[in-house]
Amino acid sequence: MTAGQSVGLLVMLSLPGLVLSFQPLFTFEGNSATHRHITERAVLRKTAEVCRDIAASMGQDFSLIIDDRLTANMVQRACSSTGASTSLLSSAMFHFSIACIYLSNANVDLVFVLSPKHHFDDEIFEEGRDIITAGVSAVKASAKRQSFVGGRWTLGKVFHTLQDFYSHSNWVELGKKAPFSTLIRPDQPFTNLADSNTPTCRSCVEENCVDNLLPDVLQKGLLTTGYFGIFSSKKPAGKCSHGGLLDRTSRRNPVGGINKDHVGSSHGSLHHNAADLAVNATMELLQDIRLAVGDSNFLRLMGLSHSSVLCFVIDTTESMSDDIAEAKRVSFNIIDSRRGTQQEPSAYVLVPFNDPDFGPLMTTTDADVFKESINKLSASGGGDIPELCLSGLQLALTAAPPTSEIFVFTDAPAKDAHLKNTIAALIESTKSVVTFILTNAFPRHRRRRSPLEVTPHANFQLYRDLAQASGGQTIEVPKSALSQATAVIKDSSASAVVTVFQVVENPGRPDAFTFTVDDSLSNATAYITGASTLTFSVTSPTGVSQSSNQPSGLLASYTTTGNLYRLHLNTDNRAGLWKISVSSENSYSVKVIAQSSVNFIYNLVEAHEEAHGDFSLKEGRPLSGGNVSLLVSVTGSDHVNVTEVTLYDSSGPTEVHGSLQSVGSSSYLVTFSGIPAGEFVVRLKGEDGSSTSRSTRSSFQRQASTQIKTSSISVTARADSTNIEPGSTVSIPFTVATTTNGVVDDAATGTFTVRANNDRSYSSSSPRTVAIAAGSGGTAKGTVTLSVPASAASGTDVTLIIEAENEAATDANYAVLRFSVAAKVTDINRPVCQVVSTSSSCLSSSSPCASSQWVFIANLTDGITGTGIESITVIQGNGTLNTSTVVGAGGENITVATYSASCCSHNVELAAVDRAGNVGTCVGQARVPATAAPAVNTASAAGHTSTLSCALWIGGVLYLLWG
Ligand SMILES: *[C@@H]1O[C@H](CO)[C@@H](O)[C@H](O)[C@H]1NC(C)=O
Ligand SMILES: *[C@@H]1O[C@H](CO)[C@@H](O)[C@H](O)[C@H]1NC(C)=O
Ligand SMILES: *[C@@H]1O[C@H](CO)[C@@H](O)[C@H](O)[C@H]1NC(C)=O
Ligand SMILES: *[C@@H]1O[C@H](CO)[C@@H](O)[C@H](O)[C@H]1NC(C)=O
Repeated sequence: MTAGQSVGLLVMLSLPGLVLSFQPLFTFEGNSATHRHITERAVLRKTAEVCRDIAASMGQDFSLIIDDRLTANMVQRACSSTGASTSLLSSAMFHFSIACIYLSNANVDLVFVLSPKHHFDDEIFEEGRDIITAGVSAVKASAKRQSFVGGRWTLGKVFHTLQDFYSHSNWVELGKKAPFSTLIRPDQPFTNLADSNTPTCRSCVEENCVDNLLPDVLQKGLLTTGYFGIFSSKKPAGKCSHGGLLDRTSRRNPVGGINKDHVGSSHGSLHHNAADLAVNATMELLQDIRLAVGDSNFLRLMGLSHSSVLCFVIDTTESMSDDIAEAKRVSFNIIDSRRGTQQEPSAYVLVPFNDPDFGPLMTTTDADVFKESINKLSASGGGDIPELCLSGLQLALTAAPPTSEIFVFTDAPAKDAHLKNTIAALIESTKSVVTFILTNAFPRHRRRRSPLEVTPHANFQLYRDLAQASGGQTIEVPKSALSQATAVIKDSSASAVVTVFQVVENPGRPDAFTFTVDDSLSNATAYITGASTLTFSVTSPTGVSQSSNQPSGLLASYTTTGNLYRLHLNTDNRAGLWKISVSSENSYSVKVIAQSSVNFIYNLVEAHEEAHGDFSLKEGRPLSGGNVSLLVSVTGSDHVNVTEVTLYDSSGPTEVHGSLQSVGSSSYLVTFSGIPAGEFVVRLKGEDGSSTSRSTRSSFQRQASTQIKTSSISVTARADSTNIEPGSTVSIPFTVATTTNGVVDDAATGTFTVRANNDRSYSSSSPRTVAIAAGSGGTAKGTVTLSVPASAASGTDVTLIIEAENEAATDANYAVLRFSVAAKVTDINRPVCQVVSTSSSCLSSSSPCASSQWVFIANLTDGITGTGIESITVIQGNGTLNTSTVVGAGGENITVATYSASCCSHNVELAAVDRAGNVGTCVGQARVPATAAPAVNTASAAGHTSTLSCALWIGGVLYLLWG
């Protein structure tokens, strides 16, 4: 692109209402569907179907109606349990995962705006399909490795290209009612494409493009897509255009276009048909992934999780034996008391560290594996403090699912303090919360304490800063009192924990804080950390007060451990405005948590190039003085209105109010203009109409944990591809600039320290510094390289953070890049099935169906060149499957599948998955007399309740999968 072109692009991208594909996130065109809607509808319906199938296979009811009215809350609830509709349930992770997928989807319009193959423009079919199928392979590999974050990111990109096909091609105009499966089947040839010499369109009549596809194309069923050009009107003779304001090709003969991006497009009258087909196509792709990775991994990829993750980072130096014993005790207690319930942690992460080692990282969904690992930890060596705490924490932050709470146990300062900015960036991008449990702040001595060590207080400041940035706490206790401090771990690992209010006062000053307690809250707990001289009082909505000299009273009972006051608040029937007043001249923090299904998630987004059109995910810190936009979704209730979203900085204190715009699905686009430099938290207030206990609406408030820190430095980096082959190196150019009020200061100069870190310890190079020279337009450029070892497994996620810090080390910002390791897929063929026989023993209509069995035998093979069959599963039918492997005539492995079932269950569908994730299916049906049509559902339910006890279902589908 020339400079002239790039200016042109900027100008055009700034046009309001610019549309190149389905609108990515928001719609300002009537009730058009966006990529976000299409993605949400498909994910919700497919997830619900999987839960329905699991329920059916267990003979359980599943009453949810699967249609386009589903919400994430409804699906989460239906998948989590049958009857327990009043139970606490958090759908925040599910919402968060869906948002990741649609934000990644939307990002394609930003990064690949001019790449025709990413949007099925210009009759490019093969390359468009390659993007989809390579992406699908990468998603399957990621899900199998349980790298769900990377998997979601890739999935979003794949969805974009797939969904665009239905808007940009003439598939809908050809009258097709089903998705074009060839797009997800690399082994199938494209047939019936309009070749390059075949004209496809005639000019539209005035503005009317209803009839512009040539009759011959429609009669012969030839497939084509529109041509698109922002800078050039060139297109092959007689070809259709995309159409629309920006598309120059559509002004040349044949004029007009065929896209169905929104209701006002050239073929806008078919917009909803295209969007509906895109939903079904997205579901078809999800079904393929589901069959390849299995139901459990599929549901986890979708973010459906019933509880939190227990995540410990533990110093294993000699002086830590008490702490290790306590971590063991509290985790065993949590596991044993919650086993088999919805509160049982859904996964476990453990990272030991000392010096010179950290790791290995242990992640598991099996409580016993975790117990065994933590049992094996022993305190030894590493006498010379400090330790590699941040390195261990870094591993945990990248391994734990986003928004996890991580507990760090140590009694020594960090030796690897240089990782501070990287850790802060990881905290901000994962929104995970880090709480430190420090056992050396009190006069107890480690053995072989270094004489050089400064006072513990100053040494632990780094931990306090990181805890504060994440919304966690720093609990400083003598080792003898550890067991009281770990109550916070039990509190936070309960289900559906929300933060109602949190503030850090540093420096300390006497202050009073109010917060709204709503009816949905239970087990409200307040933590106050601060000096031992601190005093406080709690006041209820009716004005009743209780002060800190009363450890047990009407409103609260509390315990004190080290620097921590833990108050159990008695909020039952006391909804309304509560107040906590604190008197202290030293720094202190107040945090109020509780259990509630109602919570919210948010993501920072930024407008595309000043356009009014759309937004994309913003990673890295927002610019001081600039505008900030948040995409906020309320979770856990479909009946709430958000009334207020603010950014609050306690150091001012400063509170910036956002303007709210509802964008559907309980979501809001919130914009803040000109936010000052600072460290903010997001606070949300709303009204919940689902509250049944009172006729009036109930007000509620929630607060996000992670701080949003602003920066005057802008760091931008973009990689051409997010998939990296093992054994290859990618180069990522980046740009650093200084900004004023959110705009690049083109007269600025300066030098910046650059660090590039990735979470896999892959080798990477970067300049140590970059400098903005006078007259350079205010930007400095550099390149980071990342090398993936040849041994890296497909499906491994890599997160690369490129950070730039100013010379005074007072300000830093960063760019986040996510990659998936993806080996080239050579096996694109699905396993094939040959039916050998179907027994006819169900033909007798005289005997009851349950008294006879039928047998279905099939040969399945991946051929001589395939990667081989990895698994065969029954996806329909409740009989039993036996397999054996034999070598066929051509030397290929043949898996002989023998399926037998009662004559009450007539159908079977088997899925065979090869090692590359290709899925082949095999269908069989019992031959039955026409009159004997047994009630299949009842019969199949009966067949299963005998083997699965109903008690198991209490925890719901999710518990069964991971419990
Ligand atoms: C999408 O699939 C659903 C369920 O299979 C079907 O009812 C609907 O008609 C399909 N929609 C389109 C546009 O083909
Ligand atoms: C939380 O509250 C519920 C009822 O609201 C109660 O049954 C449960 O025991 C409480 N849990 C804790 C840890 O206090
Ligand atoms: C939310 O707002 C709408 C429209 O302003 C109103 O009809 C509805 O009752 C409100 N719901 C709640 C729970 O406040
Ligand atoms: C199925 O495999 C068996 C074992 O190799 C072979 O004997 C048989 O001929 C195969 N049947 C079909 C229909 O391919």
